[in-house]
Amino acid sequence: MRLDRYIASVTDYSRSEAKILLKAGRITVDGLMQRSPAFAVESVSVVAFDGEALRAVAYRYFMLNKPEGYVCANKDRQHLTVMELLEEDNLQQLHVAGRLDIDTTGLVLISDDGQWLHKVTSPRRRCKKTYYVETVEPIGDHYIRQFSSGIMLDGEKRETLPAELVLIDEQSARLTITEGKYHQVKRMFAAMGNRVDCLRRIQIGSIVLDSKLQSGEYRSLTQQELSSL
Ligand code: URA
Repeated sequence: MRLDRYIASVTDYSRSEAKILLKAGRITVDGLMQRSPAFAVESVSVVAFDGEALRAVAYRYFMLNKPEGYVCANKDRQHLTVMELLEEDNLQQLHVAGRLDIDTTGLVLISDDGQWLHKVTSPRRRCKKTYYVETVEPIGDHYIRQFSSGIMLDGEKRETLPAELVLIDEQSARLTITEGKYHQVKRMFAAMGNRVDCLRRIQIGSIVLDSKLQSGEYRSLTQQELSSL
């Protein structure tokens, strides 16, 4: 979070007043004077005003097992949102890292740490996402080669990046992709003349959906999971 925004969020000062305090050299982060309003406050930073700690930033990081019928949004007029499954304060500060379709289930990461969310979702980082897929038609061996070399999706200018398909049985597989195009998995199977019947995200980077989480349940990420991303 930007330093000026952080100061405004934990004091009665506005962001423009926070900028004046910064300019006046009254703010330190981890003991060092900071004058830049854009300075990025980390999850463990201690911000002090005239030498007095405001509050150690404690960002929140959760994994949720998304049920069908919920949208990955903070607010929605028509549908239930995943945020309604969280029993947390200041829900408006929490955001989803990479949306799932309303009928897709499984792993959703949620946080109020904007930089971390960006890291997980930035296309440049090519974070791996693994899905369990069931299809209407059989999945042929040729899908493996096609997905690994890239496939042109309707309305796109470039082929998909190499994706790894592992067949489980005739109509189910695990697919790992490194992009997040709109409806990507469904469109990849559609491009092969097939249709996805059931889609569940089971892994993001090295964070695996906790099998102990029932549909709709969530928990905080462990330190180990956090540092693995
Ligand atoms: N690909 C899809 O088609 N849908 C999702 O929800 C996620 C990936």
